[in-house]
Amino acid sequence: MRLTRPDVKWKEEHEAYVSEWGSSRMIPSSFNLNGYESYEAYLDALSIRENGNGKWLPSTNYFLVDEHERVLAMVDIRHELNDHLYNAGGHIGYSVRPCERRKGYATRILAEALMKCKELGIHKVLVTCDADNIGSAKTILHNGGVEDRPFMADNGNVVRRFWIDNSF
Ligand SMILES: CC(C)(COP(=O)(O)OP(=O)(O)OC[C@H]1O[C@@H](n2cnc3c(N)ncnc32)[C@H](O)[C@@H]1OP(=O)(O)O)[C@@H](O)C(=O)NCCC(=O)NCCS
Repeated sequence: MRLTRPDVKWKEEHEAYVSEWGSSRMIPSSFNLNGYESYEAYLDALSIRENGNGKWLPSTNYFLVDEHERVLAMVDIRHELNDHLYNAGGHIGYSVRPCERRKGYATRILAEALMKCKELGIHKVLVTCDADNIGSAKTILHNGGVEDRPFMADNGNVVRRFWIDNSF
C-alpha cells in the first residue's frame, strides 16, 4: 500500500469510489467530483485549492492505493489551521471506500498522513470527528490522539478534537 497524488491515471478508480459513496456528502470535500465538466477540470481546481486560494489554506491530497492499483482511501492534509479548521476541521480529513471499511485502512491512512505532516514540519496535529463517529474516534486514538475540549457547531453538532504529538 502507498500514498499517491491525484492524477488523471486514477480517474476511473476515483469515479468508482464516488459512485459507491452515493448521495451522502463526500469526505474529504476536496475529492468531490460534482460540478466539474471533466476529470482534468477537477484536477486543475484541486491544484488551485491546494496552493491556497480564497477560503482554502494550502493542502496536499493523497489516495491510499493497494498493490492492485485500487483506491482504498483518501486524505486531505491541511498545512495550517484557520478558525474553522482549529474548531472543527483539523489538519487531516480522510475517508475509506465504503466497501473497504473495517479493515484497518483508516488507521493506516492516518498513520501515513502523519508521516507526511512530519515532512511538512507539522509536529502537533489536530484531528477531529463528529461525536457520533466512533470509527473515526478509534482511528485517531489508535494513532496517539489526546482529546482536547469539544467544539459545538452552530447546528448543535458536537465535534471531538484530538491532538497528536508528531514530534518524534
Ligand atoms: C470513519 C472511517 C474513516 C473508518 O474507516 P475504517 O477503515 O473502517 O476504520 P478502521 O478499519 O481503521 O477502524 C478503526 C477502528 O474503528 C472501528 N470502527 C470502524 N468503523 C466503525 C463503526 N462504524 N462503528 C464502530 N466502530 C467502528 C474499527 O472496528 C476499529 O476499531 P478496533 O481497532 O478497536 O477494532 C470510515 O467509516 C469512513 O470513511 N467514514 C466516512 C467518512 C468519515 O467519517 N471520515 C472521518 C471524518 S472525521
